[in-house]
Amino acid sequence: MDPMTEQTAVNHASAKIVPQLPDMQTVTEVKHYTDRLFSFRVTRPASLRFRSGEFVMIGLMGDEDPETGKRKPIMRAYSIASPSWDEELEFYSIKVQDGPLTSKLQHIQPGDGLILRPKPVGTLVHDALLPGKRLWFFATGTGFAPFASLLREPQTYEDYDEIIITHTCREVGELTYGRDLIEALKTDDLLNEVIGDGFWKKIRYYPTTTREQSAKMGRITDLMRSGEAFTDLGVPPLSPENDRAMICGNLAFNLELKEMLESYGLNEGANSNPQQYVVEKAFLD
Ligand code: A2P
Repeated sequence: MDPMTEQTAVNHASAKIVPQLPDMQTVTEVKHYTDRLFSFRVTRPASLRFRSGEFVMIGLMGDEDPETGKRKPIMRAYSIASPSWDEELEFYSIKVQDGPLTSKLQHIQPGDGLILRPKPVGTLVHDALLPGKRLWFFATGTGFAPFASLLREPQTYEDYDEIIITHTCREVGELTYGRDLIEALKTDDLLNEVIGDGFWKKIRYYPTTTREQSAKMGRITDLMRSGEAFTDLGVPPLSPENDRAMICGNLAFNLELKEMLESYGLNEGANSNPQQYVVEKAFLD
């Protein structure tokens, strides 16, 4: 038998059994940071346009339903951690051992497929904020993801004199993804050329941990309430005139910080009504 014909026949048959899913992308890289955190990169659909800070729905096929034998996709909202100009897409994720999606997602390898619905949305975008002098990024855990995108976005440095990124995590190892990313900006030739040499000097990085000893311990909310964070950073408390803020963390954190920012006189903005701060829930499985 002609090997070409045989090859064609096999492909044809398997194509019938496993129909090609629409919206399938390919994993290109996976990095594990701790037993709770990992990041991965996938191919980017040619037609996908998004604004740095937005999120998309991603997922994997679930197990077969024992009764119907059918498999359904398990989809969750994930902030895109790569900037809008990047040719691939990056995501930063928690691993939950019994989480419907992340129990499977944590095992992905380069070459695997990932379902990605190319409909980006979200409020952590520059368009939702009025012009200001200082931009604050407030993150806990994987809430760092949209800021990983915005920290690599030229507009962030064009629009502000200073960018303060606070990241509160339980343990020191959970800061690695963010710390490495910020460190890498210093030697990123492309960004230094496009945005301007030394653009990264506008960044003030303020990492804190709550359950493991580090240089700065405590929840950022408590450190702001006591004034310690402002003393450390050498800046006054936030004001509606100068400061703009983006919040992304767990629900309790978002609510607490939102209340604090309102008490400083900042108002919540949206795409249709830009104001002084915006908030988004970090993905939790
Ligand atoms: P803590 O260890 O005191 O709970 P998680 O991994 O549970 O999402 O938490 C990530 C980080 O966010 C932890 O350091 C946690 O501190 C902190 N955190 C949780 N809730 C709040 C809150 N309401 N305000 C500030 N930080 C919070």
